[in-house]
This record gives sequence, C-alpha cells and structure tokens, in this order.
Amino acid sequence: MKLYLSKIIPKNLLSYRRRLLSWKKLKEYYLQDAKRFFKATYGSNEQETKIGLLTMAVHSIEKGFTMPDFRYGFGYKKLEKYLPECIAYVKQYGIEDVQIQHIAQTISDYKTIHDEAGYALPEDIAKNIDRFLNLFNGISSKSIQIDCTSDSFFYNREAPFPSFSNSRHSCRYYTGDTVPMKGIIDSVKLAQNAPSACNRQPVRLYIVSDKKKIQDVISIQKGNRGFGQVVDKLIVVCSYLGCYLPQERNCAFIDGGIFTMNLAYALHYNSIGACILNWCVDSDSDNEIRRIIPIRDSETVCCLLSCGMVPDKFKVCRSEKKLEEQIVTII
Ligand SMILES: Cc1cc2nc3c(=O)[nH]c(=O)nc-3n(C[C@H](O)[C@H](O)[C@H](O)COP(=O)(O)O)c2cc1C
Repeated sequence: MKLYLSKIIPKNLLSYRRRLLSWKKLKEYYLQDAKRFFKATYGSNEQETKIGLLTMAVHSIEKGFTMPDFRYGFGYKKLEKYLPECIAYVKQYGIEDVQIQHIAQTISDYKTIHDEAGYALPEDIAKNIDRFLNLFNGISSKSIQIDCTSDSFFYNREAPFPSFSNSRHSCRYYTGDTVPMKGIIDSVKLAQNAPSACNRQPVRLYIVSDKKKIQDVISIQKGNRGFGQVVDKLIVVCSYLGCYLPQERNCAFIDGGIFTMNLAYALHYNSIGACILNWCVDSDSDNEIRRIIPIRDSETVCCLLSCGMVPDKFKVCRSEKKLEEQIVTII
C-alpha cells in the first residue's frame, strides 16, 4: 500500500507530508523532554538536587583560588547566599557525602587563606563559615587545590591512560603567550578518533585566534570571570544538525560532548592548558555569537574551550569526584 501510494502521490506532496510528520514528532519529543526536565529541576526537593546546586555554587569559590588575578574577599555574594543553605543541608543529611565534605574543605581553605593574610571577612560571612565548619569534626587547614609547575602538570602526558587521565585538570591560568596553531590542529586530529553515532562526525570547530573576537565571545559567556582576559585561543565546538532524525536530536550534543572530552585530553597531551566552557545561554547570546563567528544556522553550539600556555607556577582545582558507587547501579 505504502509503495503504491508513493507511486501515485506527487513527490513534493510526499516531501511536504514528511516535513509535517517530522515537525509533529519533534514537538512531541521536545514537550516530553521539557516535562521531565521541569519536574526534575523545579519540582525537586531531593538530596541529589540540593548537593548538585551547592556544589555548583561553591565551585566558583574553588575556582577563585586558581585564578591569575586572585583577589582577597572574592565570592562574598555566593557565600552570603549559600552558606545558610550548606548549614541547612548538613542538618538534614549529615556530613557523609563526598561532595559536602569537599564543600567544607573548600570553605575551610577560604577561611585559612584570608586568616593567614590578616584579611577581615564581613562579620556575617565569618560567623556563617564558623557555624558551617563547626558541623564537621576537624577539617584540615591544608589547601586542597593542586599546586602545579608547567613541568609537573604535563609530566604524565605520555604516561599510561590511568596516570594520564588523572593528570588532566581544567586549567584557568594562562600566561597570555601564543598557543601554536599547530598544537591545536594536532589536538583536533587526535580528537577526531572520538566515536560518533553512525560515524556521522557532526562536529564543526571554529578556532578563534583574533583577540577582539575572543573577548567579544568571552564577554557573553558566563563562567570565565577572572581568566577570560588571558585566553589565547578559543575553540567553539558546534554540531551540524542536518544529519539527524527527530528522535536523534540530542545526539548532536552527545557526539559534540564526546569529541570535546577527547579534544581536552588531546590538548593536555600537546601541553596546552584548556578549560571547557559552557554555552548555556539565552537565545539573544546564541544569536550574538553568530554575529561574531560565521556559525551556520544548521549548526548548534555545544560548548567552548579556552586554551592558553601555562605559567611556571599555578594552581588547578581539585574538583573532587563522587564515589563510583554513587553513580553506578549494577543490575
Ligand atoms: C559542559 C561543561 C561546561 C563547563 N563550563 C565551565 C565554565 O563555564 N567555566 C569554568 O571555569 N569551567 C567550566 N567547566 C569546567 C568544569 O568546571 C570542570 O570540568 C569540573 O569542575 C571538573 O574539573 P576538571 O575538569 O579539572 O576535572 C565546564 C565543564 C564542562 C564539561
């Protein structure tokens, strides 16, 4: 029947019908995605949601220790808002979770660094820090951020995978010196080993070296405060959408994400400091980047990667990971 119909119905009518069907399916899938997303976020009062949001908030404090333009008294607003929430979390769930322990260690570092410099924190923040830390029995006052030299950071670049993988960290401290384009292109070639659904290889990269354009893009990205000014090359990771079916719509980001991780490893292998930067923006900012860089309408931006040469001495965040049993269910 299908074959018979396709013979008698004009081709352009069939193609119009396919477009309509595809649009209908997309609306249905996106609506279901939206419902699940909304329920998991705004409707959620779960421990996992709370610790995730607190980790995100305190991560900006953790980042503050590793910035090229470190300044005392950073992160007041975050601490003012989130310390009471950290205290409430511990009162409800205790201190066992690795992430709340890591948050406490980060806050303890914050206190130590300011105390040692004789820098007086605002009274309410100092009080809440003490109230929070008193809930933990003996947090070490030793900094948990990782001290690096340019040699130690890349020491394991040719080591077996476990040591190599353990040695990669997001790096936000750059000298401002030029990153050789060859190093970036060599990294891209290696990253192309990344798998992609049906080997469609949708990733398209824009490597920005023009300083003004880098700063124009950096100014609309939220997450580079304190180090965006020293980025030497900016890689915009896009996925070409034109080769996916409606039910594959999220594959663009999966393929883009897998490629990005491989690129982050490849940059580390080539001794280039790098940090993935989110492209979680509103439509105005998404339109704006397209005015600065010739990204096609058929491409979606997955994320950015900031790149730079690393200095002789710097710090990277420890960014503690969850225990494997927290993320694995064996069935
Ligand atoms: C999708 C994605 C978006 C990110 N966005 C930012 C960002 O905007 N700013 C930033 O400083 N780091 C960003 N990061 C880096 C994370 O903060 C970092 O990967 C995490 O803290 C773990 O640290 P590690 O990469 O050193 O293991 C991002 C990472 C990913 C994967």
